[in-house]
Amino acid sequence: MTQRHSLLLPFLLFFTNGVFGQVFTGKNQPFQYSITKKMVVDKGAVVSAHPLASEAGLLILQKGGNAVDAAIATQLVLAVVYPNAGNLGGGGFMVAHLTNGKRLSLDYREMAPAAASRDMYIDSNGVASTQKSQNGHLACGVPGTVGGLFEAHQYAKLPFATLIQPAIELAEKGFVLTEGEARSLNYLQNELRKYNTVPTAFERSTPWKTGDTLIQTDLAATLKRMQHKGKAGFYEGETATLIVAEMKRGKGLITENDLRNYVAKWRTPHAFDYKGYQVVSMPMPSSGGLLLHQMMKMVEDRNLAAMGFQSPAAVQLMTEVMRRAFADRSKYMGDADFYPVPVSKLTDPQYLKMRMESYRSDAPTPSQDLEPGNVNFHESEETTHLSVIDGDGNAVAVTTTLNGSYGSKTVVGGAGFFLNNEMDDFSIKPGVPNMFGAIGGEANAIHPGKRMLSSMTPTIVLKDNKPYIIVGTPGGTTIPTQVFQNILNILEFGMTADDAINKPKFHHQWLPDELVVERGFSATTAAALRKLGYPMGKERGGIGRTEIILVRADGKREAVADGRGEDAVAGY
Ligand code: GLY
Repeated sequence: MTQRHSLLLPFLLFFTNGVFGQVFTGKNQPFQYSITKKMVVDKGAVVSAHPLASEAGLLILQKGGNAVDAAIATQLVLAVVYPNAGNLGGGGFMVAHLTNGKRLSLDYREMAPAAASRDMYIDSNGVASTQKSQNGHLACGVPGTVGGLFEAHQYAKLPFATLIQPAIELAEKGFVLTEGEARSLNYLQNELRKYNTVPTAFERSTPWKTGDTLIQTDLAATLKRMQHKGKAGFYEGETATLIVAEMKRGKGLITENDLRNYVAKWRTPHAFDYKGYQVVSMPMPSSGGLLLHQMMKMVEDRNLAAMGFQSPAAVQLMTEVMRRAFADRSKYMGDADFYPVPVSKLTDPQYLKMRMESYRSDAPTPSQDLEPGNVNFHESEETTHLSVIDGDGNAVAVTTTLNGSYGSKTVVGGAGFFLNNEMDDFSIKPGVPNMFGAIGGEANAIHPGKRMLSSMTPTIVLKDNKPYIIVGTPGGTTIPTQVFQNILNILEFGMTADDAINKPKFHHQWLPDELVVERGFSATTAAALRKLGYPMGKERGGIGRTEIILVRADGKREAVADGRGEDAVAGY
């Protein structure tokens, strides 16, 4: 299924003189913008938030790269063409299943600078400033993405210099903006001026328009330093000097030592069984895998399929397990290198059974019976996910982020990339909600070198130890609850991958005490839940943007990009 925009929306025809020769040819012609939303292919597929990024991943697969090569190239192109969330200045997580049976999870989450401290956002009156944890230089954690890409590269087949070339060419020669991209940059102008000390490629005195070309010369130079010097081309030398100078101009905390000391960490994947399937996801410092585990185990023996998709009974049960898992998140979850997260206890079948003892099918469990609190919810979902499979069956799921849209809104002067505002994902003060309305305490308190708790849930579901579903989404705290629904839509409600991701979603995170539904969600079910006593939040226009690949019984790969954005599939 290909969505063709009837107007001649601009699309980049790639260049003929790069490392790749003619990079993008065939269906993509200049000024003809097309997004493929769904493909069924025999070999490899890439699904990401931007058609150019998916095409770059495909190109790498066709050049002999494997799924890890393609995931690296796709992320690098996202850093150029999707600056809201694709990034060099942020962090992420990769989950992979290789054909030799090896399961990987790589943590390249940002890290608190050495000079960070527990109460750094609290003033002398005891008031915590989310303004400072969410915007500008003080909001930035030490970036992890570049460390992650180079660490992952040991499982790739092609030279890093080859994988980074499409991103360099797109930054150097530019790409043509769609209407949505132009609008997004126009919204950003005031904040760009507020949080930057030198002019950036994204700033303009006249509004951006559809068809304008965004050229990122400074970013191209940074990417070239990475191409020539590897990881040191970012964490040391000129790029590091530019980051530290930017921090000094804006009173941020990141130092040369912070950058030099950054390491991506291999973790043991968070894996569990569900009705004979093996679910492989991300462990701490992401809460994603653990929350998914808790939620899936709390519904496993309750015959959801018989209740029916988004019936009041099914939604009520799923809402109640979401609430219990998120209450646990606020108290027990944080970077396990700094805090003893009781993972085994939180997933112990007896514990989960006990947790469900207060569950009633005719009324909400009062929130204060789960844990007390009162927070406001502010929506921001700028993270991005990509799912990749290659012809051999290697599977990779990556979720990566700057946190909010365009992160801290601070661009490193002379280096051309946005820095994250990930410090807000720490609990800046017990009970003070972050931008997703999530609260926390000791487990997720700020500490130098610690990684802030995430909700990102890149996940691979295995059937007979082979990849069956590769899935993930942006969406802050809605990420685990969407991955939960996407997987159950297939395993319990028998949906196609397309329906599973595109049907309207719902979300509850314990606090704020409200059930949020997406536009198009069944009005009958919403009314039934309201009648049962569930406070309903404001209906949301879109919840997340899931990218999914499902491997069919005949081996064909069904790849689907979320219909909510300009996300696209590429495959062969
Ligand atoms: N910054 C969003 C998350 O990591 O969950």
